[in-house]
Amino acid sequence: MSKKFRVLASVALAASLAATSACSSTRDAEESTSGSSGSGGGLVGIAMPTRSLERWNNDGAHLDDLLKKAGYTTSLQFADNKVDQQITQIENMINQNAKVLVVASIDGTALSPVLEKAANAKIKVIAYDRLINGTPNVDYYATFDNYLVGKLQGEFIEEKLGLKDGKGPFNLEPFAGSSDDNNAKFFFNGAWDVLKPYVESGKLVIPSGKKIAGEEDWKTVSITGWKSETAQAEMDNRLNSFYTGGKKVNVVLSPNDSLALGIAQSLDSKGYKPGADYPILTGQDADLANVKNIQADKQSMTVWKDTRTLGDQVAKMIDAIVKGTTVEVNDEKTYNNGNKVVPSYLLPPVVVVKDDIKAKLVDSGFYTADKLGL
Ligand code: BGC
Repeated sequence: MSKKFRVLASVALAASLAATSACSSTRDAEESTSGSSGSGGGLVGIAMPTRSLERWNNDGAHLDDLLKKAGYTTSLQFADNKVDQQITQIENMINQNAKVLVVASIDGTALSPVLEKAANAKIKVIAYDRLINGTPNVDYYATFDNYLVGKLQGEFIEEKLGLKDGKGPFNLEPFAGSSDDNNAKFFFNGAWDVLKPYVESGKLVIPSGKKIAGEEDWKTVSITGWKSETAQAEMDNRLNSFYTGGKKVNVVLSPNDSLALGIAQSLDSKGYKPGADYPILTGQDADLANVKNIQADKQSMTVWKDTRTLGDQVAKMIDAIVKGTTVEVNDEKTYNNGNKVVPSYLLPPVVVVKDDIKAKLVDSGFYTADKLGL
């Protein structure tokens, strides 16, 4: 979507949301709740996992802003990646009579009891970006196509290395995201479905010996909490133990930017310099530090998810729920949470490489040229 169109769409949405509100009220301080369910379009609780990653700050701020402009009262909370903290925050939102809860979960399997309370209070729940598992009490799911994110990373590696043309063997080190995040498996499977045949044919070799053959084996390369420093330490270990005697890593499959940041630091500390011998390194989110690394040839690509469009979509869903009209979904088969298939809206992710940073990230207004020194 072009910037102009997106802005117009947001304005139109805000206007239409505002028109449905009896009166509007605004809230000043972030991370606090104001108003009650009687004011504006009602209270919407937004539970985000952590402030420590750039994207969740942006996600929270955008959705909060959109809803406030439309006359909703909001409670925007960040849980410092602590499950208990997130549960308490959701409980508070329920006690404050929220009409709708938007939850980007930390552990997708830990929210069943609190969501049962929400269901008893007739509060609708939208899983935001990450699916919530094992409960009937999640009404909708809005996300990017998570499998496609991984597939794009796998295809990027396939193309850059010329694997289809029979080139190789290359040394690969695979990483996966946090195993308590439902998305992590989708990302990994998307990439692995592309890369696995080359591992089997010997064109991709994994010197660290990580074997990913069975369904759950991706967990052996997962990084808990998506932490940069854990990814860095893991990469340090692999390089120290398995890359002796001049052996070089040619490609690192990283599911997202926070891991890629740690991996790039590890590569740096082991003497890998940007240039022909620097490994291919994937990512996701287009975090500012990573876009700068792409500019500096320390990361090869990122899969950009324009989180503003996710916020726009979720705001539309909230509006439809509150108005009692049909909630738009475009996938009713992929996301089975172990209890039911959750009606979902999937948005398309986009690959960004050095050459199109300006066209994709700056011209769309995601970053200012200034921020990227362009
Ligand atoms: C999100 C990614 C993010 C990761 C770490 C995932 O659930 O989809 O965009 O990089 O969590 O926060």
